[in-house]
Amino acid sequence: MPGLTAPSDYSKEPPRHPCLKINSKEPFNAEPPRSALTCSYVTPSDFFYKRNHGPIPIVEDIERYSVMVSGLVEKPKQLFMKDIRMLPKYNVTATLQCAGNRRTAMSKTRTVKGVGWDVSAIGNAVWGGAKLSDVLELVGIPKLTSNTQFGGKHVEFVSVDKCKEEKGGPYKASIPLSQATNPEADVLLAYEMNGETLNRDHGYPLRVVVPGVIGARSVKWLEDINIIEEECQGFFMQKDYKMFPPSVDWDNINWSTRRPQMDFPVQCAICSLEDVSTIKPGKVKISGYAASGGGRGIERVDVSVDGGKTWIEASRCQKSGVQYIADGFNSDKWAWVLFEVTADIRQSTEIVAKAVCNTSSAHSHDSSYLSYGTSKIS
Ligand code: MTE
Repeated sequence: MPGLTAPSDYSKEPPRHPCLKINSKEPFNAEPPRSALTCSYVTPSDFFYKRNHGPIPIVEDIERYSVMVSGLVEKPKQLFMKDIRMLPKYNVTATLQCAGNRRTAMSKTRTVKGVGWDVSAIGNAVWGGAKLSDVLELVGIPKLTSNTQFGGKHVEFVSVDKCKEEKGGPYKASIPLSQATNPEADVLLAYEMNGETLNRDHGYPLRVVVPGVIGARSVKWLEDINIIEEECQGFFMQKDYKMFPPSVDWDNINWSTRRPQMDFPVQCAICSLEDVSTIKPGKVKISGYAASGGGRGIERVDVSVDGGKTWIEASRCQKSGVQYIADGFNSDKWAWVLFEVTADIRQSTEIVAKAVCNTSSAHSHDSSYLSYGTSKIS
């Protein structure tokens, strides 16, 4: 394909920060130490988790690089970077989280397949690029469309990387057309991360960013956008990233009975302590992050230093000097909030942090309004 190529081995990987904890070397999957995660509201790209399923693609000639938008549309179009840059540029602060975040802890209860992750397969960045709703207008699809005249209902994003799960084919995923054409959903074709050109690990030259949705749908190294009738039939939409009850295991799983996971549920993790920490008795700062998918804000974070008997409300913040209010005018609706509490701890105990998302805009089951993070003091 012009401009962008996908190596079939790992000899041309980009350099990475030595502080990252490597969960799998080839493909490269790594996360920052949890203590580094809450140092800043916007995660520097060096410390941002990296989640890959194959070798990192290489841009050979940025002038020749293009994205083809086709499928069930009136006027298919080949778009070059200059065409995308010509559209209005938006900066969207959005938290990206891998659906496998905290998989290592889950495996302590029951073995989970897939790369193991601690609590740092999550990061918050300012993504810069064109809105997908503006891009789709270029092929004749108006804003707020859920069905094209040719029967298109989903937007599929296809990359170039060679993934084992796709039998050497590219990574792909889709979102509903109604979300793609809604300017308020803030779906971006991003070429910048934190004010700088996107780097290779995070999707250079162009990636999708779907705010509020599991990271798996934010396809990197974009090559094709297809308007299709049914959701994408690729491995990562149909045979992965779905949720099943405990009665289902690898012997009786029937993938087609569940929808692909999209919005992520509320999440809360303590980052200033490890799962088990030893500290000096006295005042201890307990801090971490809370995030919820679908643009639902974080209504409250409570912390217990006696294993859940009593609770103290933690302070929440996004930007210093600006009060955080879930769904508030000055809040970033797609972004995490950092929380903090200081408590007096004099003996061995269990510390629990609990986040509640904004239920007024939630549309899922009760228990997903709550998420816990725990640390033990020994
Ligand atoms: N896009 C491509 N082309 N290939 C991939 O392996 N991984 C997905 C998504 N987009 C992936 C991809 C997954 S599972 C996640 S969680 C995010 O990218 C991770 O993005 P990041 O590496 O920029 O943090």
